[in-house]
Amino acid sequence: MKTRSEAEKKYSEYELLKFAEERKYLMRNHPLRHIMWETTTRCNAGCAHCNCSCEKHNKVEEVDIKYMYKVLDDVNKAYGAQNVFFVTTGGEPLLRKGIFDVCKYATSLGYEWGLTTNGSLLTKTMVQRCKDAGLKSLNVSIDGLKETHESFRKLPGFWEKIWAGIDMMREEPAIPIVQITTVATKRNIHELEDLYNFLVSKGIKYWRILTVDENGRARENKDILLESEDYEYIFDFIDRHKKDGKLEDLTYGCSNFLGLNLEQRVRGGSFLCTAGILSSAILSNGDLFVCPNVTRKPELMQGNITKDNFVDVWENRYNFFRDENKMANPKCLACKDWKFCIGGSLHTFNFEERCQDFCMKERLKTFE
Ligand SMILES: C[S@@+](CC[C@H](N)C(=O)[O-])C[C@H]1O[C@@H](n2cnc3c(N)ncnc32)[C@H](O)[C@@H]1O
Repeated sequence: MKTRSEAEKKYSEYELLKFAEERKYLMRNHPLRHIMWETTTRCNAGCAHCNCSCEKHNKVEEVDIKYMYKVLDDVNKAYGAQNVFFVTTGGEPLLRKGIFDVCKYATSLGYEWGLTTNGSLLTKTMVQRCKDAGLKSLNVSIDGLKETHESFRKLPGFWEKIWAGIDMMREEPAIPIVQITTVATKRNIHELEDLYNFLVSKGIKYWRILTVDENGRARENKDILLESEDYEYIFDFIDRHKKDGKLEDLTYGCSNFLGLNLEQRVRGGSFLCTAGILSSAILSNGDLFVCPNVTRKPELMQGNITKDNFVDVWENRYNFFRDENKMANPKCLACKDWKFCIGGSLHTFNFEERCQDFCMKERLKTFE
């Protein structure tokens, strides 16, 4: 008789090996699919976990938007705007002057664009501006129920305002995706079930759960980090609620390789950290990078849009990120899952030690 986990595996060993082969193809060919623009590192919140340690009075270099127009033009000519999703994030992107001019221009070229926001600035006027600029996908961070969310994000009294903004967005047929993102931490894990019921009662269809990564401000607030049993709980939670079908999509973020069984149950397929392979990031000062969530080091920056051509850089640099062995170390190479994991996710990678911050295999009883 098959065990529960065997019965739930969607893919055969053969199919998984094919995915691993496809990943090699993607690494060699690196078709650009996402540009994440970190519009600013200024933020009106002060989240306990913030990976870029964003805050209100950050002195921040923000690249002149004329360079963003050039990137959008060059990428459109090289790859076709319709093939690349343009994501605006931050800091709090709605604080960035010129964001709607850039996004309107992106829409005019044929890009679809998304906004990742804390939602606190989503007034009626802001919703209209998003709509006028052709927003296609709104992603709002909600890290617990009212009390937990407001204290975790240092946004006291904002809960109702945020939800009023989300509700206005959901009434716009022109904005088909309204997704909630929740970072699971020690401070909210006890109320994930209530949050789920709340989101379902609000009619939310898309929910993305991340687990807190130990970077940025999370390094100072270690009490929010998760332990083994928390991960077990979260993966079981996602698996369970995926199956009950009340949400159209319940996804898990891109931290860590979870093992072949959980990859299928929780992520629905095979693991690939797309940073530098399908995804690029433009940081607030114009630096060209792979993902705003990856630890920033000067030697990992691939150029800057004020002096380099985005397409040239995408085609000819990024070599480190496209090397299958970039995360290789003797312990990982000896692991039976190496060909599926190839070192895990870059934003949970410890560049000094050349290994993941931790390996899920060592944390999870359910890892197989
Ligand atoms: C840095 S925020 C910027 C956009 C916007 N201000 C917001 O709150 O969504 C982007 C996303 O990264 C998540 N994030 C920040 N620090 C994180 C960490 N240490 N681990 C996992 N996710 C994190 C946030 O919760 C949010 O969903």
